[in-house]
Amino acid sequence: MDISERILALKEQKGMVILAHNYQAPEVQDIADYLGDSLDLCYRAQELDADTIVFAGVRFMAESALILNPEKTVLFPAFDATCPMADMLTPDAIIAAKKRYPDAPVVLYGNTTAACKAHADVICTSANAYRIVSSLDADTILFGPDKNLRHWVAGQTDQTLVPIPDDGYCYVHNVRITEEDVRSLMAAHPEAAVLAHPECTPAVQDLADKIVSTNGMLAEARSSPARSFIICTERELCYRLRKEIPEKTYYEIPHAVCDDMKKTTLATLYEAMATEGRAMTLPREVLERARRPLERMLELSRR
Ligand code: 13P
Ligand code: SF4
Repeated sequence: MDISERILALKEQKGMVILAHNYQAPEVQDIADYLGDSLDLCYRAQELDADTIVFAGVRFMAESALILNPEKTVLFPAFDATCPMADMLTPDAIIAAKKRYPDAPVVLYGNTTAACKAHADVICTSANAYRIVSSLDADTILFGPDKNLRHWVAGQTDQTLVPIPDDGYCYVHNVRITEEDVRSLMAAHPEAAVLAHPECTPAVQDLADKIVSTNGMLAEARSSPARSFIICTERELCYRLRKEIPEKTYYEIPHAVCDDMKKTTLATLYEAMATEGRAMTLPREVLERARRPLERMLELSRR
């Protein structure tokens, strides 16, 4: 048996379920039970019957799975896979901002640590950010950490979104995907529709036909009359697009790679599943305080 077959056998034998984010390496996507964007994976984690979830993604996603299912075991094989944007916001920065804006609710992007989520009123993801913000009866909202997501949502509402921190960003979308990258693909493929993730810079957002989450890109590729797409997000989403919607064409940005998403390998998955090591844990107080804002998000954006 090769390693993929051994993982599948172990999964069956131990009744484990593998959840994987759309940016995972192809061989990890191939053995996952469910692939999704961060919102979809929260719903999946909440709905599952299995006692053990194996999470292929970055730390904040595995933390959210545990916060929503404290009675389950969440194995997180790539223990050092963090999201650098999540690490740009600290609980102290939120506390300081709350002192300046005592009446403003705190909306945090899912790409935050559990310790930060414990200070939020509600969480959002790229799939529901506008819906969450506009559902709040507040003129001023503290919003973080992604400045580009903030820019995109702020453009659709009259509410004032105060950034926390001032300059939070994702290095893949904000730095590795440039306006020039997108313009040169557009010049080479003028017929292609441009799909951009809201973590991209305002200049890239301005070039896009649609600004959507990673699952939103799959939905758009399925339903759009366009036959080809320029995909402005982490390049591995194109593996899923090609596999599930092979009749269309996708142009990726080859250097748009999230290094942390690639820390989950078949070897680390097998090891974690075989030994049942690398279980995610969080301090009880954080676990309990972070649950309400996550559950509030799921209630506000019911699929
Ligand atoms: P999605 O929720 O759209 O999959 O995005 C998560 C993420 O980390 C994007 O960089
Ligand atoms: Fe974080 Fe960016 Fe990687 Fe998404 S792509 S997990 S925001 S570093």
